[in-house]
Amino acid sequence: MTLPDLSVDLGRGLVLPNPVGLASGTAGYGFELRELIDLDRLGALFTKGTTLHPREGNPPPRVAEVRGGMLNAIGLNNPGVEHVASAYAPEFSRWSIPVVVNVAGGNVEDYLECLDRLERAEGLAGYELNISCPNIANGLDFGRDPSAAGRLVAAARARTGRHLMVKLSPNVTDIAAVARAVEEAGADSVSAVNTYVGMKIHRGIRAPVLPGRGTGGLSGPVIKPLALAAVAQVRQAVRIPVVGVGGIADAGDALEFLIAGADAVQVGTATFVNPAASLEILDGLTEIATRAGVRRLGELRGPDRPGVPPAGIEPASTG
Ligand SMILES: Cc1cc2nc3c(=O)[nH]c(=O)nc-3n(C[C@H](O)[C@H](O)[C@H](O)COP(=O)(O)O)c2cc1C
Repeated sequence: MTLPDLSVDLGRGLVLPNPVGLASGTAGYGFELRELIDLDRLGALFTKGTTLHPREGNPPPRVAEVRGGMLNAIGLNNPGVEHVASAYAPEFSRWSIPVVVNVAGGNVEDYLECLDRLERAEGLAGYELNISCPNIANGLDFGRDPSAAGRLVAAARARTGRHLMVKLSPNVTDIAAVARAVEEAGADSVSAVNTYVGMKIHRGIRAPVLPGRGTGGLSGPVIKPLALAAVAQVRQAVRIPVVGVGGIADAGDALEFLIAGADAVQVGTATFVNPAASLEILDGLTEIATRAGVRRLGELRGPDRPGVPPAGIEPASTG
């Protein structure tokens, strides 16, 4: 029996050996996880959000468990771009897993300076721009404002020939509008979605568990149906590849994202439950594809028209 070709060409030189990546912020820069699992079997590592200057992040408590998932308010704890470029990138170039650096900033200049520094480093497969960051100029997340997101991506596009993925925020009224804006501005692909704004209340102290505004980013199985809907919407809005992320805990979940229109997936919170979750998802997907007798991963998707359910599956009505 010949094994199916699971590779995914995301464009501009970024070819993933398989569709299962590790989501930003849930595997750091790979060093700890590498001690536990065979990282090089995976499709890609999306690093922790990297900023111009090192950040300690928020004081604890900065994570909280909720039914079906978790909330986090880490606050972009990272060693800063200089360290990533000079100390980590040389290590990445010895790994066979493609490493995509997730980049965050408070204004366009921050992002661009980060990119300029990373451009001088070898061993990087591309960038994932985290646009769920408050824009210092107007207080709004870049990801909530299609024109601000478009301007940021156009400026980033001008700085790099490497693959440029944009991580979409789900905390918007019209995610398709943001996806279209970043595609027009030159993004090579989009990943969807980042965490949803959520809150956990401590009944004893009659206050939110997380400090500050009390809110955090909700992730894990609880967001899967929301993330699937977002991926399907984005798929219909753009022609560039879409990477699905949100609550994927097993191979069946990953398959659902492919059917919804994703070209590849990222596994996040599931890694906290089981460090080998991503590998098990990859093995499960390989088995599904082999049993289905497909030659290429794309055939698992079913419908020719991306995002459109196959015949026989009625779109659910709401209400
Ligand atoms: C602890 C934690 C830290 C995260 N940090 C980042 C980050 O730095 N940049 C980013 O783009 N997304 C970050 N995310 C979002 C994840 O990459 C992912 O989009 C989200 O958690 C949904 O996927 P999941 O349900 O599989 O975890 C973080 C998520 C968690 C749980």
